[in-house]
Parts: sequence; C-alpha cells; structure tokens
Amino acid sequence: MEIGVFIPIGSNGWIVSTTSPQYRPSFDLNRQTTLNAERYGFDFALSMIKLRGFGGKSEFWDHNLESFTLMAGLAAVTTRIKLYATVPTLAIPPAIAARMCSTIDSISNGRFGLNVITGWQRPEYSQMGIWPGDEYFARRYDFAAEYVQVMRDLWETGTSNFKGEFFRMEDCKLSPRPQQPVKVICAGQSDAGMAFTAKYADYNFCFGKGYNTPTACADTVERMQKIAAGSGRDIATYALFMIITGETDAEAEAKWQHYRDGADLEALKWLTDQGSADKKSGADTNVKHMIDPKSAVNLNIGLLVGSHAKVARMMDEVAMIPGLAGTLLTFDEFVSGTEIFGERIQPLMKSRRHIASAVAPVAEAAE
Ligand SMILES: Cc1cc2nc3c(=O)[nH]c(=O)nc-3n(C[C@H](O)[C@H](O)[C@H](O)COP(=O)(O)O)c2cc1C
Repeated sequence: MEIGVFIPIGSNGWIVSTTSPQYRPSFDLNRQTTLNAERYGFDFALSMIKLRGFGGKSEFWDHNLESFTLMAGLAAVTTRIKLYATVPTLAIPPAIAARMCSTIDSISNGRFGLNVITGWQRPEYSQMGIWPGDEYFARRYDFAAEYVQVMRDLWETGTSNFKGEFFRMEDCKLSPRPQQPVKVICAGQSDAGMAFTAKYADYNFCFGKGYNTPTACADTVERMQKIAAGSGRDIATYALFMIITGETDAEAEAKWQHYRDGADLEALKWLTDQGSADKKSGADTNVKHMIDPKSAVNLNIGLLVGSHAKVARMMDEVAMIPGLAGTLLTFDEFVSGTEIFGERIQPLMKSRRHIASAVAPVAEAAE
C-alpha cells in the first residue's frame, strides 16, 4: 500500500478546533514535513488549494499558501518523493496550469502530478469576481473535462486547437513538455465527479470514513472501481485518513477528546452553510460528508485513534480493502506526526514492511 501525506498548506491542518495545535502554514513547516515523509519512505505529498477560510476563533484555513508555488519550492529540496499540486480550474487558465506543470516537472525531474478541483465553496471565487453563477455547480465537471483535455493536448503533443464550450485554443503551444506523463488526480465523489475521473484522471481520492473503522470506505472504493471498469481505464483509489496517536490508547483517546471539546463552532457553522450551498449537483458529495455532525470537527476525515501498535494494525486493515492503492494521511501536528509514523507506526505495519526495512534509522542517516 502506498502512503502519502496531505501537507499542512492551510492553518491548523484538518482539525476545526481551538484546542488542537494552532499553527499557520509556512514553507519551513511544509519542507520539514515533506523531508520527514521522504526520509521515511512515503510515496507522495499532496497540497490542496483553499482560497478562503472558515473564520471563527481558530481562524480555520484563513491562512493558506498557494499550491503550485509551494510544490515548486518542495521540488527543489527533495529528490525522491512524488509531489502533487492542486489546480483551482476556475482561477487558472489550463494552458498556464499545463506550463506550470512542465516547470515543476523540470524542477522535480519528473516527480510531479496534478489534483484537479472544480471548487465547491462559492466565496473562494466570488471574492475575486470569478464565480460563474450557481448554475456552475451542475456544470463543474463538464468544465473540468474540457480543462483537462486542453492540458493533455499540450502535455502530449505540445499544441492545442481544442474548441469546446468553455475553452477555445488557437494553435496554443507548450514547450518544454513534461518529461514524464503528468498524472491527474480527481477527488470527486458525486456521480459526475467519478464519471469525470474514470474518463480523464488517473487517481481518485476519497474520504476514509468513521472512527476506528478502517474499512468503512470500501463501498466508495468499489463504486469508483465499477465506474472505472465501465470506461476501460485503470483508476487507482486512495483514501484519506487522520492519525491521532500516543504511547497508549488512553493517551491518544484523551488527546482526541481534548480536540473535540474545543470544536470551533463558529468556523463549523461557516462550513455547514457553504457545504449546503450546492443544490445542483446531486446529494452524494464529499462536501456533504464533511459537514456531517458526527465528526465535523475533523471534517469527517476517517479517523484512526490509538497507540502506535493499534494504528499500525488498523492501517494494515485499510491495506486489505479490495481495489485500494494507498492512503493519504493527515496528523494533528505534521512534523512530529510524520516522524512518529516513520519511527513507531510504519515498522509495525505488515503492509509497509518492505519500506520500513529500507529506511535508515535517523541517527544513522545523520552520520
Ligand atoms: C483528498 C482530497 C483532496 C481535495 N482537495 C481539494 C482542494 O484542494 N480544494 C477544494 O476546493 N476541494 C478539494 N477537495 C474536494 C473535492 O475536489 C470534491 O469537490 C469533493 O470531494 C466533492 O466531490 P464532488 O466534486 O464530486 O461533489 C478534495 C477532496 C479530497 C477527498
């Protein structure tokens, strides 16, 4: 099973609370996190794009770096780990995005790929005057389909003459082209999102679900695999989990309870209002999943809470989900989180034994 880290590009990571670690994003924080991940054999690092936060006392996601420029910096300081940026399709023209991909492909020597998002939070875009109107909710993936076709034309042939409803290219050029095919991620969970993924993307990312229920997302993985089979393309699915760990189960549970007790209700109200705004593209979206009151405090990211051994056991269960290629991990605190994962959890995982045994202990690596 592959492992990736969802690096902390936005303030406070993925816990909407006043009692969880409070931090703002910086290059240094993301560099340390990604270098830890690389040292411990993680396969990839992904950064999201978020252009407006939820406010509240914790100022959740009010502070966010930009994804491409962050990944370009990380590409220059890493050597092995794969890197993915996220493109907000409404905000960046596809020919520019394709060229930024070529640039980071060059910096990283072929280690770069792209997460394509359509946008679900209107104020991120209306604040810049580029929200096309609420009818866009129902057309998001039609727009994204044309967007990716333009980028693929440019990456594969260096020229695009694509003529569609949203984009019209006139002998549009790209050179240099990427040295490796740029892999495309889509985390769409609606029927339209999954149909788009099956046709235009390489990887689908979904939410892990529930509390200490490692295989609860198996139904979503199966759904994506069925839709992909219909299109005759291979789509690898990855599930998103948050790890809260400690020396003992009790210590980890107490930490999690403490974060829950500090839930930032004002920020969560903003999230609920935004998540309910899309009345056009069907009910089965991850956004609706995120605002489920069961665990909105961590955006309902599938949660694995326990001692290092317990988390390792649960991660091995995740690895058994049929059709799942890997997981994307978040932590309450990312520098210590990636280090504890690498030093204490991964060596106990059967599904990562081949990686753990290849990782030099920190003291040895420093010599
Ligand atoms: C791993 C992962 C990463 C995502 N990254 C972003 C992001 O960077 N920005 C964003 O606005 N939405 C992001 N999303 C939301 C998805 O792109 C998507 O809109 C959401 O899962 C709802 O699915 P739908 O678009 O098919 O309704 C992400 C979701 C997941 C699971």
